[in-house]
Amino acid sequence: MTAALPIHDYALLDDAECDARIVAAKAKLGKRCIVLGHHYQRDEVFKHADIYGDSLKLSREAAQSEAEYIVFCGVHFMAEVADILSRPEQIAILPDLAAGCSMADMANKVKVQQCWDELAQIIDVENAVTPVTYINSAADLKAFCGQHDGIVCTSSNAEKILNWSFAKREKVLFFPDQHLGRNTGYRMGIPLEQMVTWDFNKPQGGLSEQQIRDAKIILWKGYCSVHQAFQPEQIDAFKEKHPETIVISHPEACFEVCEKSDYIGSTEMILKIVREAEANTRWLVATELNLVNRLNQECKAQGKSVHFMAPTLSMCSTMFRTDPQHLCWVLENLAAGHVVNQVSVPAEQAALAKKTLDNMLLAS
Ligand code: 13P
Ligand code: SF4
Repeated sequence: MTAALPIHDYALLDDAECDARIVAAKAKLGKRCIVLGHHYQRDEVFKHADIYGDSLKLSREAAQSEAEYIVFCGVHFMAEVADILSRPEQIAILPDLAAGCSMADMANKVKVQQCWDELAQIIDVENAVTPVTYINSAADLKAFCGQHDGIVCTSSNAEKILNWSFAKREKVLFFPDQHLGRNTGYRMGIPLEQMVTWDFNKPQGGLSEQQIRDAKIILWKGYCSVHQAFQPEQIDAFKEKHPETIVISHPEACFEVCEKSDYIGSTEMILKIVREAEANTRWLVATELNLVNRLNQECKAQGKSVHFMAPTLSMCSTMFRTDPQHLCWVLENLAAGHVVNQVSVPAEQAALAKKTLDNMLLAS
């Protein structure tokens, strides 16, 4: 058999040529391959997805797919989830292995274990704390939750998952995104003072023993750099010019932005709400630029205008790494019988992580 085709042969291909070759490779692979696309993917890649969605929808699709190859146009943790939830003989592929998630990188096993151990000095962690990891995290952190009877959540099921967690134990350790945890907890009626932030660079998270004892949710001090760009003043300034504006935000946006928003929801929910809204409405959206631009184009026909909240254009640079050249490269290799860029989670870790993901899929 010939060797795998090297990526450098693709680097200089123009997008139009890639486009035609992606279509041809997909046709050759047929049902053996499914391409999943997250809503933040750029148009040139997104249009080749067989199924697109938010993290929860794509996890379900990966778990149910019959395809031999699951090509994930998204970021690394998403391909890991596809590998964990699919059958052992199925293969998960990430077109560019450097497509990570900067928020996911803000928590790691060493720091979370250290946090757990430090909490154990003060409270009975195993009986008092449910660890909850946002799906935007590495597989070993999902495995950590599996080991400690915890669970995974996404932006679309966080409230259900927190309810599940509080039914088990009185406190939650929530990582890595402080904003999703805080925004969700607050809407469930938990006062801000009972949601403390664990600074993973400080001893005991920078918290006093009393703060830890009194907390309902201990929030990891992680955040998304893309959603960090949205600020409440941007809403005020926009509404001054267009008072009729309806504001919708992803829960990774900060508390002050979510407080000023009419709706809060996952990427899939944002699309649904704006699509189903009355014609001729104006929307200000706090989430990634590719999604907002596509939604604006789509809704123009209904007289809706959809605006990006931040004055500077901020894209998710890691989602952007998946380009038509990488997609073409992985698909043509698969069509030629070569697997490149497989994402494979070690079996022991995958088994523990699967337990938490299964808990999540059942609870949501
Ligand atoms: P969704 O699950 O809402 O698509 O969010 C994923 C993500 O990474 C948002 O930044
Ligand atoms: Fe991660 Fe933020 Fe990009 Fe989502 S938008 S994948 S949270 S860096």
